[in-house]
Amino acid sequence: REIRELKEFLKSERVRAAKERKFPKTGLVPTMGFLHEGHASLLRRARQENDIVVLSIFVNPIQFGPNEDFERYPRDEEKDLSLAEREGVDVVFLPSVEDMYPQPTATKIRVEGLTDRLCGASRPGHFDGVTTVVGKLLHIVQPTNAYFGQKDAQQAAVIAQMVQDLNFDAVIVPCPIIRESDGLALSSRNVYLNPDERKAALVLSRSLLELEAKVEAGENIKAGDARRTLVQSIHAEPLAVIDYVEIVHFPGLKPVEEIENIKDAKGPVLIALAVKFGTTRLIDNVILTKK
Ligand code: PAJ
Repeated sequence: REIRELKEFLKSERVRAAKERKFPKTGLVPTMGFLHEGHASLLRRARQENDIVVLSIFVNPIQFGPNEDFERYPRDEEKDLSLAEREGVDVVFLPSVEDMYPQPTATKIRVEGLTDRLCGASRPGHFDGVTTVVGKLLHIVQPTNAYFGQKDAQQAAVIAQMVQDLNFDAVIVPCPIIRESDGLALSSRNVYLNPDERKAALVLSRSLLELEAKVEAGENIKAGDARRTLVQSIHAEPLAVIDYVEIVHFPGLKPVEEIENIKDAKGPVLIALAVKFGTTRLIDNVILTKK
């Protein structure tokens, strides 16, 4: 539960291993808890690729806006710990807000450019909070590898940029989106949805996966048309209120030209959206890469 405690533990493990001329790999999986199978998939990958697996659970106040859900963000420590145990995690790090931010931080990490768009446009300051806390976690743990889900594709891109710009040693490992059997992307926030909203939310994965299938089948679809079709099918769902629907290059996040065929775009294309159902804002995306 304390930064000092975790640093001491990791140091003693590393010193012990060094005496045997071993250099253990450490995998870090940063989360805000209320763990689900999406988080579990990151832990599994980390378990496969590292000697020591550290899971951090910290609902990071500085990445929430003043009117966002920091106070009511779902928490269940007991369930999280049993999932961690099931996945063979070595250390669960559960710092307090006071330990992570003893006084309001004077120093923040801010990635320019990539954070203006998509979720950054609707959540000002959000990504500064994310990069600051992830920067702190990377310094505390000094992992060989750190695991992030493509569910938050922009977050993964922003963190990869930070790690490159600031010469962090960790390798950032992106991991695929895990979905419910009906398509809904797993998210800790799904518990906020009432049954009607839960049903309505399926429009997101349905329309994204439909578009993905068409592009992968070789159809010529211009980015502008694809975007309009997505907006239309989401609008057809009365409970859905669109925040954004964007088609951008990945990981640069620059818009794909309206008239460009998605299939012909240079490099991977990210089709990302954020939509509100009641008070719950959900995000989802697909990344299309040429086979
Ligand atoms: P959180 O939302 O708890 O997510 C932790 C990690 O799990 C992120 O890398 C996220 O992309 C991944 N994840 C969530 N749902 C997923 C799904 N359905 N499939 C695959 N991966 C999924 O993202 C955060 O926390 C925070 O911003 C954090 C990085 C911990 C910084 O506070």
